[in-house]
Amino acid sequence: MENESDAREHGQGEPRVLLDERLLPGRFLIASNRLPYALKLEDGEVVFQRGAGGLVTALDPIISHTGGVWIGWTGSYDQLPEKVLLKKGLGSVQDYELKPLNLTQQEVEHYYLGHSNRGIWPLFHYFQQRAEFNREQWQTYQAVNRKFADAIIAEYREGDLVWVHDYHLMLVPAMLREALPDALIGFFLHIPFPSVEILQVDPHAEEILRGLLGADLVGFHIDRYAHNFMDAVAGLTDHRYRRGEQLVEVGQRAVKVGSFPISIDFKHFADIAAMPETEAKAQEIRDHYQAKTIALGVDRLDYTKGILERLEAIELMLEKHPELQGNFTFIQISAPSRTKVHAYQQMREGIEQMVGRITGRFGGKGGAPVDYRYHGYPQEELVAFYRAADLALVTPLRDGMNLVAKEYAASRVDEDGALVISKFAGAYGELRGAIVVNPYDIEGMAESIYQAVMLDREEKRRRMQRLRKVVSRNDIYWWLERFLREVASVKSNA
Ligand code: F6P
Repeated sequence: MENESDAREHGQGEPRVLLDERLLPGRFLIASNRLPYALKLEDGEVVFQRGAGGLVTALDPIISHTGGVWIGWTGSYDQLPEKVLLKKGLGSVQDYELKPLNLTQQEVEHYYLGHSNRGIWPLFHYFQQRAEFNREQWQTYQAVNRKFADAIIAEYREGDLVWVHDYHLMLVPAMLREALPDALIGFFLHIPFPSVEILQVDPHAEEILRGLLGADLVGFHIDRYAHNFMDAVAGLTDHRYRRGEQLVEVGQRAVKVGSFPISIDFKHFADIAAMPETEAKAQEIRDHYQAKTIALGVDRLDYTKGILERLEAIELMLEKHPELQGNFTFIQISAPSRTKVHAYQQMREGIEQMVGRITGRFGGKGGAPVDYRYHGYPQEELVAFYRAADLALVTPLRDGMNLVAKEYAASRVDEDGALVISKFAGAYGELRGAIVVNPYDIEGMAESIYQAVMLDREEKRRRMQRLRKVVSRNDIYWWLERFLREVASVKSNA
């Protein structure tokens, strides 16, 4: 699918994956730490709230089209029914089932907040000094992975495709393989897979590799992460492997390793962006700020996202280019995340102090220099912000992919707006047309943001067309189809 008309068809027509049923002969069993909707009980009724984050944004539209069962934690401690049907009325095209996994407070503390988010998360994002590992966390991580594996095994029917997601569940594939030797099992990691030197800081690196190698296909966002995984297999295990084919031999089985850059439902975002209500809301946002230029950051509040460094660069730019003072506003939307983890609380305080400092230095002349909003927004409102913003600043210190960059491009149906992207975001390699920054180089980033502010309309349009072309072609259905084709081919070549 190389030419533009194919891209248009793919991006704006019916998702092609639905047409090829051979790719999904049985049901789709998805397992991830969280369900796509947080569930709780209110007066005995199940109440749904859509989750945030890349994984949900990417997978919800898919299972909404294919149907299936999604197994995951509810996000609450309420005892929920064994299965909950997610009906069309809640946004899904086809009903699908949620199978809630109830976790205890102790499990959430040590498996989710602990091993996953105080251990693996910082380490895999190259924050090795922040990574904390201890026995209790690890034992609970193992026990909860077992709980997930048991729930999947109980649900499994012959012919189903089991697809396990993310760093919380890296032991599950091997647990499944033991009980279901012939099952088709895919695994996808939504965060970076680090170099072997970093991986080895994890006292359980070998167990993680063993866990992942239970799958038929282990998928990563980009080649770099897949290569890092192959290096780790080569360095830390005795398995034979074929690097060129990205295959690992595990007993009689061949495990395929590949890269699949995750994406968004391009058409969905473009449709919302083109609605008159969205255009009106975007105009309201533009009118609200008196600034000539509006820049936007949208992130979960996370130290990996480089929000402090972004603010520092903006402060420096305003200092160096006083003509922008009063004419430039940066809106930072930060969705609260993992608020019980100390590093996140610290980050929040740091950001608030810096926003105060910048406002103190450059406020008072026309529009405010920074508008910091510490809450999430529904998709429709976010798209209005995307349409209102002259620039989007996606400058993580490290990020598996980053879907905000792709959402911004999809939402710019007017082909206006400039994207500034960090070279440490997985999306960077795909998104030619963006202005690339190194977020560790504050002065360089300040200059690049200034360059983005100064781009003329024609140059912006040219760049945005390139961005939109790639995101419309490489959308979430393209990602799914590539993953499914690859997983199917592993079994048929066995
Ligand atoms: O993309 C990484 C990820 O951990 C996803 O698994 C998750 O959906 C998202 O970030 C949000 O994180 P959390 O579930 O910890 O709030």
